[in-house]
Amino acid sequence: EVKTFLFIADAIARASEPGQFVMVWNPGVDEIPISIADVSGGGEQIELAIADRGDCTHSLHQKHEGDLIGLRGPYGRGFRIHGSRICIVGGGYGVAPLLFAARRARELGKDITVLVGARSESELLYVAEFHDIGCDVRVATEDGSQGFRGVVTELLSSTLRDEDFDQVLCCGPELMMKRVCGITKRAGIPTQIAVERIVKCSCGACGSCDLGGYRVCTDGPVFDAEELEGTEFGCWKRAKSGKRIQINNNCSSGLSSVPSPAFTPEYEPLLETHLCGIEFPNPIANAAGFGVSGKLLYRYAIAGAGALVTKSVGVREQEGYPNPTFFEVAPQTQSYVNAMGLPNPGIRDYGPEIEDAKRANVPLILNVFARDVEESREVAKVALNYPIEMLEFNASCPHTDFVSMENNPKLLRSIIEAIREVIHPHHIPLAVKLSPNIGDIAGLAMTLERAGADAITAINTVLCRPIDRTLDIPILGNPTGYGGKSGRALTAGGKQVVFSLYEELKIPIIAVGGIYSAKDVIDYARNGASLFQIGSALVTQGHGIFRKIKEDLKDYIRNNGYKNIGELVGEAHRR
Ligand SMILES: Cc1cc2nc3c(=O)[nH]c(=O)nc-3n(C[C@H](O)[C@H](O)[C@H](O)COP(=O)(O)O)c2cc1C
Repeated sequence: EVKTFLFIADAIARASEPGQFVMVWNPGVDEIPISIADVSGGGEQIELAIADRGDCTHSLHQKHEGDLIGLRGPYGRGFRIHGSRICIVGGGYGVAPLLFAARRARELGKDITVLVGARSESELLYVAEFHDIGCDVRVATEDGSQGFRGVVTELLSSTLRDEDFDQVLCCGPELMMKRVCGITKRAGIPTQIAVERIVKCSCGACGSCDLGGYRVCTDGPVFDAEELEGTEFGCWKRAKSGKRIQINNNCSSGLSSVPSPAFTPEYEPLLETHLCGIEFPNPIANAAGFGVSGKLLYRYAIAGAGALVTKSVGVREQEGYPNPTFFEVAPQTQSYVNAMGLPNPGIRDYGPEIEDAKRANVPLILNVFARDVEESREVAKVALNYPIEMLEFNASCPHTDFVSMENNPKLLRSIIEAIREVIHPHHIPLAVKLSPNIGDIAGLAMTLERAGADAITAINTVLCRPIDRTLDIPILGNPTGYGGKSGRALTAGGKQVVFSLYEELKIPIIAVGGIYSAKDVIDYARNGASLFQIGSALVTQGHGIFRKIKEDLKDYIRNNGYKNIGELVGEAHRR
């Protein structure tokens, strides 16, 4: 069953484009992405067509007028309407965003032919509405109860035998859309496809909605058909954990990805960095958790990153917390809160991501977590099967379902000793990631240095528990309500932590926390860090941030008479 919900939300309605989506928060249950089906009420209200097909949507179906839910958005890249004759192809409840696209195209004076498919007449959506706005509507039902008997792709093939279009816009079940791409490619018609994946953060941070290294929430959800070629579209998708799951048994490649071209980074002598026996082409990496897939990490390398850091991976697959898992503290602050809950496919199933990332010839840091010594030994042993350059142990996630290891220095020391015992004979160094959520971070870091850590990464996110003031309940889906702050809120504190660590440690420091510019990198370097990880800044600055920071750093190094970025490290302590 599909119900249409109407929301008076003028700011969202005014900003909405066809094909975009909003995040709908059903407090206490989940937060889900829903395509905008239409903007109505003089541009002040949005319509959402919600099918009853899971806990969250089922509970939304029980709501009544006046009940409170949360809405944020609009998000994503919508349909780009070109040409004068447009064919719209929709299947099942995928028809919803196409109504809005058809209305916008009609306002632009386009001729629209709509092909709507469903199993049976009773499941057809928006046929009358398409008629009302002046579209030529044709229907396909599998049982023949209305219109053409068969599937909508057959109707498309027969339509294209006699008619020509400038563009096809499509939304529906993935295998149907894959077939549409094949048909329109043969006919030479540019095609746009609205893709569905599991969305968590909705703004390009977490990478849960990955599709071939693209993030559906920001690079999509509407893609040109050519962009989807060579991706897993139509073959497999990802579970909430990030694990690959087959959606089409006929795909000969199974769960593999099409390999990206091998990539070697440019030689940048001013930025080249040596750390823990590893040669980094430059010291700017991504932070852990900004992407699950190897393809996305590979894209960071292409964008200029000198090292790649994986999502935290544990012994077993886990799907993380329900949404909301990530949001901006307040508009335009670039400070965020997250409680992802360490979703990951499990280390044994992480191999394909490492293989994809390793198409880029830059050092790969595998970030791992464990609940105890046994798990940490196991995770380290499996890690040895992978071509990684460094292990980073996440001891500081502030919203796990177990007490984070940095709160138990004795246990953490045993874990570090156990991991070290496994990986050191293979010359893989170990960094330990800490946060300021404990009192004496420098003291703990010294203990870990003695236990055999080769580097300290600081800082992880800062503990918080955001509350919705209207409902007086925690916002995050984590049952305890706790999460961690990231982004601009961490810039000043992170630099201070690195300064105090450098005073006490001999091992190198990897900086993370609110790095937005070359100035931030210079401050962190002068305070004592040698490698720099960028996380939340990717949300607003995109992948271009890697190159921008590197260019600005090189200018600074040249203009101030340094030979290499390494000369900046710890300078603030030598004055
Ligand atoms: C969405 C999200 C997911 C994260 N996942 C991980 C993770 O899996 N492992 C980890 O060690 N840190 C994780 N972090 C923490 C970041 O790596 C980083 O330490 C923190 O965000 C501070 O950097 P930033 O201000 O540049 O974002 C995550 C942070 C965010 C916002």
